Amino acid sequence: MEIIRIPRIMQDTAKGHSLRGRSIGFVPTMGALHEGHLSLVRRAKSENDITVVSIFVNPLQFSPSEDFERYPSDYEGDSKKLKGEEVDILFMPDITMIYPEGFSTHVEVENLSEKLCGLFRPGHFRGVTTVVTKLFNVVKPTRAYFGQKDFQQCVIIKKMVRHLNMDIEVVVCPTIRESDGLAMSSRNSYLNKEERRAASVISRCLAQTIELIKSGIIDKEHIKRFMLAKLSEEPLVTEIQYASVYDAENLDEVEKVGKEAIVAIALKIGSTRLIDNMLVKVLIKPGEESRDAAESLYTDT
Ligand code: PAF
Repeated sequence: MEIIRIPRIMQDTAKGHSLRGRSIGFVPTMGALHEGHLSLVRRAKSENDITVVSIFVNPLQFSPSEDFERYPSDYEGDSKKLKGEEVDILFMPDITMIYPEGFSTHVEVENLSEKLCGLFRPGHFRGVTTVVTKLFNVVKPTRAYFGQKDFQQCVIIKKMVRHLNMDIEVVVCPTIRESDGLAMSSRNSYLNKEERRAASVISRCLAQTIELIKSGIIDKEHIKRFMLAKLSEEPLVTEIQYASVYDAENLDEVEKVGKEAIVAIALKIGSTRLIDNMLVKVLIKPGEESRDAAESLYTDT
């Protein structure tokens, strides 16, 4: 595995591969790699000639009160895991290479970045889209791989790619879960033993909500009440930031679950903020647009 730290060298290497007609699969990460990241790497490897993984903890997507300074890092462990997956290139730029003195250019996807997580993390998605644009310009991927756990991030990046005519295929891969259902995340390492046990309430609540929708309950207010009640049963939940059902494209809350929606949660356990979601597809036969359509509902996570 080649380790590249200088953007110009990464760019020239990427150009060389493109000239030889090789596709580049790219997995951008902030390190502290877990099975979720590795599933993206495996997918990238299976679909491309060359696989590039970046590790860069992006200060622009953290607000001053967030965990940038203590974000988990494990360079030795990460590089061992990536070698084990036979990744071709690890791109690990230094912060000054990405944000030189006087850096003042940003990319922002309006009307999506302010919703859901954006309400609680102002500026977060502007930081994500800015760094992802820079990484795309340097790595020049054919395809880029993101996890569905960060659903809003995926929707925003897909829109950015479309709106800015970036010639890149964005591939969204399934969330990888621990055995009790907790979505894998580098931030899970912040949880103590009790908090870790409590965190399974999130995926349990999502799965039960999907069952509720399957049973024919498609009304937002009913679904929200159900979710809040379930989450509130867990005493270690200190703050519920959102828990509802959203349109999978514009991320607005839906009044009634229609064609395709996303059930999503953001909450804090102790001081650790966790997010998760599951997709729900509802098939409603023409003329059966009420809860009577229970028979024709199906879900897919
Ligand atoms: O999902 C992440 O780890 C980050 O938001 C990303 C896409 C690597 C940008 O910093």
